[in-house]
Amino acid sequence: MRYLEMDTAKKVSKIGLGAWQFGSAEWGYGDAYAGAEAHAIVRRALQLGVTLFDTAEIYGFGRSERILGTALGDDLQSVFVATKILPVMPLAPVVEQRGVASAARLGARMLDLYQVHQPNPAVRDGTIMRGMRALQRTGLVDEVGVSNYSLRRWIAAEDALGTRVLSNQVRYSLADRRLVPYAEAHGRVIIAYSPLAQGLLSGRYDAANRPSNRVRANSAMFLPENLERAADLIAALRAVAEAHRATPSQIALAWLIRNPVVVAIPGASSVAQLESNVAAADIELTNEEYAMLKEESARFTPVTGRAALASIVRNRLARPARY
Ligand SMILES: NC(=O)c1ccc[n+]([C@@H]2O[C@H](COP(=O)([O-])OP(=O)(O)OC[C@H]3O[C@@H](n4cnc5c(N)ncnc54)[C@H](OP(=O)(O)O)[C@@H]3O)[C@@H](O)[C@H]2O)c1
Repeated sequence: MRYLEMDTAKKVSKIGLGAWQFGSAEWGYGDAYAGAEAHAIVRRALQLGVTLFDTAEIYGFGRSERILGTALGDDLQSVFVATKILPVMPLAPVVEQRGVASAARLGARMLDLYQVHQPNPAVRDGTIMRGMRALQRTGLVDEVGVSNYSLRRWIAAEDALGTRVLSNQVRYSLADRRLVPYAEAHGRVIIAYSPLAQGLLSGRYDAANRPSNRVRANSAMFLPENLERAADLIAALRAVAEAHRATPSQIALAWLIRNPVVVAIPGASSVAQLESNVAAADIELTNEEYAMLKEESARFTPVTGRAALASIVRNRLARPARY
C-alpha cells in the first residue's frame, strides 16, 4: 500500500474503501452482504494496509456507519475514518448534533474527517462551518472536508472555517475527469469517488449485460449507448492491463492515484474485489500509458443531461430495477 504524503494526524492510504454499499438497499447486495461480506471486506482491508474508510450518515440511513464501526472495532483508533453530513438544515447546532450522532453510530471518539456531503444550493457555508469549528474545538472532529464542491465554493468554505478544508470528495475517474490543480498548488487532497465509474471501468458490463440495481439503473453511465461509447476506453484499459498482468479496474485506479494529491475510495461487492483494488496501489504506469489513457478518457463523451434522462426513463420502463 502507498500513503498520502501529507501532514495528517493518521496515515491515509492511497486506496481507501468506500462504504456506501454497506447496508444500502439501492446497491441491491442484500442482507448476507450487509451482515457478513461487508465485515470481511473491512477486516481484509485492514490486513492489507488500507487506512482510509469513507461513509456517510445517509448511506443506508446510518446502517453503513454502524456496519463500518462494528467491523473496525478497536482498529477504529488507528485508521482514518471519514463520514459526511447531508446539509439539509445547515445550522451550527444541527451540525454539532449530527456529528455527535455519526460518531456514536461509528463508535468513534473522534471523526478523522467530517465532510459536507454536497453544497446546500440555498445557504452559504458560514453556519455549517461554525458548527464544524465547534466540533473541532471540542475534539470530536479532526479535519473538515467538503464533497461535490466547485473550486470557488471550496475556497469560500475554507474562508468560513478559518483553517484548512482538507479535501474535496468528487466524482473522478477515467470515465469522468476533473482537474486537480488547486489541490496540487495548496497542499489539499482530492478524494476520488466512484473511481471505477461504479463498475463501468471493470469491463464487466456492456449493452447486452447491464447491471440492474437501482444505483446503476438510474445512472446515465450505464445506458446502452454510453456502454457502447465506453468500449474504446475499456479496450485501452484492457491493453494496459495485459502488459501489467492486471485487470482494467486496477489500471483505472492506478491511473487516478498516480497523482500525489489524489486518493481513491472504491466500493467493493466482495473480498476478492477489495484485494484486487488494494493491489492497484503497487502498479506503476509508464508516462506513455498514462498519457494514452488520458487521451482515451478525453475521447469518451457519454450522453448526459436531458437526452440521458429521457433514455433512463425509457430503459427503466422496459426493465424495472432490482432492489
Ligand atoms: N460524496 C459523494 O457524493 C459520493 C457519491 C458516490 C460515492 N461516494 C463514495 O465513493 C465510494 C465509491 O464509489 P461508488 O461505490 O459509487 O463507485 P465505484 O467505487 O466506482 O464502484 C464500486 C462498484 O464497482 C464494482 N467493483 C469494485 N471493485 C471491482 C473490481 N476490482 N473488479 C470489478 N468490479 C469492481 C462493484 O460492483 P459490482 O460487483 O456489483 O459490479 C462495486 O460495488 C462509495 O462507496 C462512497 O463511499 C461518495
